[in-house]
Amino acid sequence: MKKRTIRPISYAGVEIDSNLALAPIAGTTSWPFRLICQEQGASWAVTELVSASGIRYDPELRRQYRYLAIEPRERRTAIQLFSAKAEDVDYAVRHILERPSLNRTAFIDLNFGCPVKKVVKTGAGSALLDTPVLAVDLCRTAVLAAENYGKQVTVKIRSGCKKKMKDITAFVRQIEAVGIAAIVVHPRLAAQMYGGRADWNVIREIKEAVSIPVIGNGDLISPQSVQKMADFTGADGFMIGRAARGNPWIFSDIRGYFAELKAGDEGDEGAADAVRSNAEGIDTQGASDSKDDGNAKDKAARIAVCETSKIAAGETSKIAACETTRIAAGSDVIAAGREAKDEAVCTNGRDQALRTMVNDPVTGHKISLWQLTIRQHLRGLAELMGEEQAVREMRKQLICYTRGLPGASALRPRLMEVLTVTEVEELVNMFGHI
Ligand SMILES: Cc1cc2nc3c(=O)[nH]c(=O)nc-3n(C[C@H](O)[C@H](O)[C@H](O)COP(=O)(O)O)c2cc1C
Repeated sequence: MKKRTIRPISYAGVEIDSNLALAPIAGTTSWPFRLICQEQGASWAVTELVSASGIRYDPELRRQYRYLAIEPRERRTAIQLFSAKAEDVDYAVRHILERPSLNRTAFIDLNFGCPVKKVVKTGAGSALLDTPVLAVDLCRTAVLAAENYGKQVTVKIRSGCKKKMKDITAFVRQIEAVGIAAIVVHPRLAAQMYGGRADWNVIREIKEAVSIPVIGNGDLISPQSVQKMADFTGADGFMIGRAARGNPWIFSDIRGYFAELKAGDEGDEGAADAVRSNAEGIDTQGASDSKDDGNAKDKAARIAVCETSKIAAGETSKIAACETTRIAAGSDVIAAGREAKDEAVCTNGRDQALRTMVNDPVTGHKISLWQLTIRQHLRGLAELMGEEQAVREMRKQLICYTRGLPGASALRPRLMEVLTVTEVEELVNMFGHI
């Protein structure tokens, strides 16, 4: 029997309810956004890359903590490290896993894909694909260090630096042999950065070479693109990056779509309900895990955000059709998208959130679910890094949240100048609901 595309997965020592994940994105995937994506159906997430050497030279984690922080309400998040030095990887893994607040990490992920100069010039990130012996050594070191704490290690790779790695199948078999538990493949060269199309052939090649789970990443923008990748590569799971920025509802769109297919296959009307209760389950789980679950307002906000998942799961015909919305030209997601001329990011869930009115549990005012989600994101950032920095970080997120909405281009300069939470909220009110 054909395997279901979205299905539970045993991943890096953790039993996970689905194989759909949020990719690490520096400057975006701190805990407030990860939490929202997990509420919408991303079954795990990964922190942005953090320097293992930085952790070694700042053991108090004064500068690193905000990148490493995992919120207790998050379901499953892994910490991603980068370094070209085995001793720093060893130190960082142990240091993280010794601290109860960071030992929450579901597993440790190693970055062998970052193309950014600052990282590559130290021999780390994608540069390691040119030094496979060192890369395997780093894997071995991390696996041994994490093993002491009962945690496993995964690796995220690209297909090569300037050209495809010479013997990529031998390399992935070696990292599997030293105990790496899973591999995420973003099949672009580092030289491509995020341009061109991801070469899904490489995902298929790696999937055929190893027995550990292989997660496909690159140009997933809709349920249909997930299905295409599944059919083409046989990947065990799917990781969404840029298409989730400003659009965390993409996870409920994808899960709703596949729940409907399952219901159709099995004549099981309950499948969409399963997605619904999953979203509720995340909330319940989060609330019971949370130290501050007495915070009724916060809980109410989370429940309200979960409404989108219910809607996505319930509005079957729209989801099955997954009418995609054309997004303004210039979107990097579209530019990088597979068959960019024919496909666009699925925004059903977002559009639904714009139309759904809820009470803001903090102010009591009626606002759209879309607005409430942005508020939740901003308030989380303010809690994590203080108002000034949160507003600065939120500017680029606002560009993503408002992309393609009427009037967004005209308001863009103002979005880039906001200084306070109040100013952000006033601007977001201007979009309100459609
Ligand atoms: C701005 C930006 C920052 C990123 N930061 C990271 C990172 O910290 N760690 C990592 O492994 N990948 C990082 N990536 C790569 C993504 O995780 C993902 O592999 C890539 O965007 C392709 O997937 P997508 O087509 O779904 O976006 C980043 C990508 C972008 C655009």
